[in-house]
Amino acid sequence: MTEVRTVSVDLGARSYDILIGSGLLSDLGHWLEKVAPKGKVHVVTDENVYGHYKNHLMTLDRDASVTVLPPGEGQKSFDVLQSLLSDMFAQGLDRNDTLLAFGGGVIGDLTGFAASVYKRGCRFVQVPTTLLAQVDSSVGGKTAINVPQGKNLVGAFYQPSLVLADTDVLKTLPERELKAGYAEVLKYGLLGNRKFFDWLDANGNKVLSLDPEAVGEAIATSCMMKAAIVAEDELERGARALLNLGHTFGHALEAEAGYCDRLLHGEAVSAGMQMAFEYSAAQDLCSLDAPQRVEQHLAATGLTRIADVGEWLGDTDALMTHMGQDKKNEGGALTLILARGIGEAFVQKGAPKPEVRNYLQSLI
Ligand code: NAD
Ligand code: GLY
Repeated sequence: MTEVRTVSVDLGARSYDILIGSGLLSDLGHWLEKVAPKGKVHVVTDENVYGHYKNHLMTLDRDASVTVLPPGEGQKSFDVLQSLLSDMFAQGLDRNDTLLAFGGGVIGDLTGFAASVYKRGCRFVQVPTTLLAQVDSSVGGKTAINVPQGKNLVGAFYQPSLVLADTDVLKTLPERELKAGYAEVLKYGLLGNRKFFDWLDANGNKVLSLDPEAVGEAIATSCMMKAAIVAEDELERGARALLNLGHTFGHALEAEAGYCDRLLHGEAVSAGMQMAFEYSAAQDLCSLDAPQRVEQHLAATGLTRIADVGEWLGDTDALMTHMGQDKKNEGGALTLILARGIGEAFVQKGAPKPEVRNYLQSLI
């Protein structure tokens, strides 16, 4: 096992550590003991992750049970939540027992929400297995399921007791999922850390080829930045909205694509970040050089660019409607995350709709 990096999320009594390293899963039982020295463990995972890594669950070495779900966003539903809660009751879990999310963001979001409502809250541990989950969804306590009214609209802020990110599991992740997760890594550089962006510019392809040192560094830096933002604004009243860089444009693309495999969340965010920088430059908020640097980086790492999402850019009215439904909006006015340069994102409330429309129109 290589070096284990620790990032702490400082939230008073609800503080916790994120452990990042190669080979952590082969000693899962040992790491879990740090926050849950005894009691039962109920693992929630999906068929893909279970297929690859079920042997690691043996190292838990205690009373453990497991719910294995089919993969996919469809699992973030009331029906699946109810059946998971039934599994937990059937195992006789109490609040001091542990619910362990072992998978990507879908498993993490669903399991975290189940943990938040089961007997008004039981211990919850995240073992994220996608790059997106290791740098974003497993950290910070946002949990949710989807409802017909929209994605992630029913949920809770509920922090885990521990996050355990084993970088080795990324070796079995499909390349498209890896790149989608890398978009969220890049997001941290673009939103608030120019030096990290420059580092990614030099090392991005090493991260994507899973060089152990580079991938550990990228995940740890991303988690440090997220931990600092979450510690400052856990409930997203202010600075946490910066983590949505590229997401308002990106969600509109995802909605147009019908939230399906044809456009992954991270792919939409990747193009969405380029759009946020282009729109910022069009508004004279940043120099033209900034969106160009973003595009060059996306091209050099093979990430999704605006040029790749043309089929979902054709209906400006529909895109404006989707952007109008964003959770960050207030009183019908658009809230956007824009940039004054690379590493200098800010929240703009009351973004002028005609200007946004003109920009979207210009992309057709
Ligand atoms: P996912 O959980 O659907 O995983 C992607 C695919 O990879 C799935 O098919 C899964 O079975 C497979 N997989 C997972 N780990 C694997 C591994 N190690 N090897 C091989 N295959 C593996 O998708 P995701 O991108 O991890 O998460 C997306 C979800 O995260 C969305 O629902 C989104 O809303 C949510 N999200 C939440 C937050 C948050 O703060 N809570 C932030 C960002 C995204
Ligand atoms: N992924 C955005 C957040 O956690 O706030």
